[in-house]
Amino acid sequence: MQTKRKILVTSALPYANGSIHLGHLVEYIQTDIWVRFQRMIGNECYYMCADDTHGTPIMISARKNGITPEELITRMHSEHLRDFNAFRISFDNYYSTNSPENRQFCEYVYLEAKKKGAIYEKEIEQYYCEHDAMFLPDRMIKGSCPVCKAADQYGDNCEVCSATYDPTELILPYCAVCSSKPVIKKATHYYFKLSEFAGELKKWVSEEHVRPEIKNKLKEWFEQGIKDWDISRDAPYFGFKIPGTADKYFYVWLDAPIGYIATTKNWCEKEGRNFDEIWKSNVFEIHHFIGKDILYFHTLFWPAMLMVSGFSTPTKINVHGFLTINGEKMSKSRGTFLNASDYLKVFDPEFLRFYYAAKLGPGVDDIDLNFNDFVLRINSDVLGKVVNIGSRIGAIVNKKFYNRLGEIDDQGEVILDKIRKVLPKIAEAYETLQFNKMIREIMPFADMLNKYINDTAPWELVKTDAKKAKEICTAALNGLYILSGMLKPVLPRISEGVEKFLGVSLINWEALARRITNHKINTYERLAERIDPAAIDKLIVSQKK
Ligand code: 2FM
Ligand code: ZN
Repeated sequence: MQTKRKILVTSALPYANGSIHLGHLVEYIQTDIWVRFQRMIGNECYYMCADDTHGTPIMISARKNGITPEELITRMHSEHLRDFNAFRISFDNYYSTNSPENRQFCEYVYLEAKKKGAIYEKEIEQYYCEHDAMFLPDRMIKGSCPVCKAADQYGDNCEVCSATYDPTELILPYCAVCSSKPVIKKATHYYFKLSEFAGELKKWVSEEHVRPEIKNKLKEWFEQGIKDWDISRDAPYFGFKIPGTADKYFYVWLDAPIGYIATTKNWCEKEGRNFDEIWKSNVFEIHHFIGKDILYFHTLFWPAMLMVSGFSTPTKINVHGFLTINGEKMSKSRGTFLNASDYLKVFDPEFLRFYYAAKLGPGVDDIDLNFNDFVLRINSDVLGKVVNIGSRIGAIVNKKFYNRLGEIDDQGEVILDKIRKVLPKIAEAYETLQFNKMIREIMPFADMLNKYINDTAPWELVKTDAKKAKEICTAALNGLYILSGMLKPVLPRISEGVEKFLGVSLINWEALARRITNHKINTYERLAERIDPAAIDKLIVSQKK
């Protein structure tokens, strides 16, 4: 047997000022499937996440709601956790970046960088809103794009022509909060000398930490030149104060990824684990899952911060694309800006896990959630091919064979052997994030089993040859056992239902190869319900604003 790997996994930390939506869930479901697979094959795998709580938008959102940022983030933390639990996202720790551990690690990373000469001060000019008494960061200022002249664009880039620019280049700038005209003010900012890490980063990128298409993207950035990074923000700011300054705060993108470390530390303290083994040695692999929009932060800023402060750099950065719904960007007016909680009112969370898995590959391609296709696919694959085996055969074994399985007939053995043979291929597809391929590989075996059941019709056969009928049912339920075991990382609740029904547990991947014969099972309880296509309208119409 291969030696057990030790793996720390993270998903990007969601902002604490918004609800979890179906777009977010692509990443948490992808990560969770990978994590559950790792645990199932016997690796030691821990999954860390937290709320990303700092920054201007959170401060403003709290202000608008008449509460403190602390109240807002406490409220959102429980809401987020409630949604993640409903989708069975199996975090080992779900923490917050507004924590004492995170403050301590931020200060540590900063002071280490400073000690090594990687921090300098620079005076810059910035827009300031006199009405709101604050400097306006990129997303708090709007105006017309200096390149294409499109109106109402943010201070950092234009959504119409994709140009990037400095906020001071905006035409007719205005404050995004109160719409008044901002003034230019001078302020001292703290910079991280990212440029000095270009060589080390290039070397890191050349190793196998990211996929080839990401390497190419990074190559472009290296060619454009790596600029130093402004890591400070002026008061008022909800965040951590920079040590040795009166009113400067760490930019949220400095403290957010450090939240991965702080969350691990908090967990290690609670669980009595060795923190240094995880973040300060090469015993643990570190795998981050992120969306393509935050690549720069995770492949340049983040490894440089880790390098300067002596923490382990990531083993793998897995990058996924965006979600479209019915072929278009999620949109409030089309009724497709769907939160996790909206979905949960209408559909089973397992179904979204399955649908995303069926669509997800290892690359950055966007995936589409088409609701008509979703209903067809779930009804046909999950209900018609997997669950159906349990309900049809369960009824016979429960009623006619007093819950007892017998031997397996020869034809059944042949099919089961074929399924067992594919186990290594399925494992490989999980490992390499080829979930779409994995589902494509599994489904023909479900078809094969269903065909076998239809052809042999044990419900008829039982009247004339009960022994043979029992063998067929035993084979069919062994098939269900392996199928639901292979799908357990994707469909944890349904697979647990199968385990309960069959009176066995799918403890690990290797156990999937076993035969379950002459064994007592339990009464079949419905594992999932078919979807009524009318439910789609219920979901989308209720969202239209
Ligand atoms: O883009 C986002 O939603 C950020 N909140 C992700 C932070 S990931 C990490 F760096 F903390
Ligand atoms: Zn303003």
